[in-house]
Amino acid sequence: MTGLGPWHSERLIYRAIEPEDEPVLLSISSDPEAFSNSAPFLPQPRSKRSATQHREWLEGALISAMICLPPPTSGSQDDTAMRPNPVGLIHLHGSDPRLAHHRHGDIGINVRKTYQGQGYGTEAIKWVLHWGFQYAGLHRIELGAFEYNPGAVKLYERIGFVPEGKRRDWVWFNGRYWDVHMFSMLEHEWRERFGEKQNSSN
Ligand SMILES: CC(C)(COP(=O)(O)OP(=O)(O)OC[C@H]1O[C@@H](n2cnc3c(N)ncnc32)[C@H](O)[C@@H]1OP(=O)(O)O)[C@@H](O)C(=O)NCCC(=O)NCCS
Repeated sequence: MTGLGPWHSERLIYRAIEPEDEPVLLSISSDPEAFSNSAPFLPQPRSKRSATQHREWLEGALISAMICLPPPTSGSQDDTAMRPNPVGLIHLHGSDPRLAHHRHGDIGINVRKTYQGQGYGTEAIKWVLHWGFQYAGLHRIELGAFEYNPGAVKLYERIGFVPEGKRRDWVWFNGRYWDVHMFSMLEHEWRERFGEKQNSSN
């Protein structure tokens, strides 16, 4: 975390998802590979209405944000050029209110294709882990990756999520069943790995 406050990490800023972002949400979910890698829903052509529903669903998260590159600091007077440039989206959903006392969270992330492989996914996940443990008071944050998405499996292991095993034949995709690899990180594991001490009230 930088000194810039909670809505920044080293290279990225995080802002609320607005109705104006629906075209970006639509472009993300219209990429068949990204869609199938991030959701177990039937692959279908996506409508504008689906982008609205996606945004409304994201509003129910503990936190959801457009992952953005900061606007250029100098040059164009053009308003469009000065807007933060969305590279993807990230969300952390909490549990149903009757399960909230367990303090679990569940991460989802999607980085737009042209921005993949540049470390933005790693940076955004570390940011949301910080937010979840340090601000939302979570005890456990989990995520799953489909067997046909080995890049995500590798990424989550590299960040330090602990493999919890597989849900066998959990997802039907492209003519066969695939497993889902489950991962989690507990608050004390995050503090040990990322060196964040608990603030003392004394
Ligand atoms: C998975 C995802 C979030 C990773 O974000 P990213 O910004 O590309 O990741 P980073 O640049 O921080 O890290 C790259 C690492 O991620 C993994 N990775 C996963 N998918 C990748 C992709 N399409 N391109 C490059 N790296 C990918 C690799 O392990 C890579 O490690 P390497 O450099 O040692 O090969 C992103 O590729 C994405 O949004 N994919 C589509 C949707 C998706 O799969 N969401 C996750 C659902 S569980």
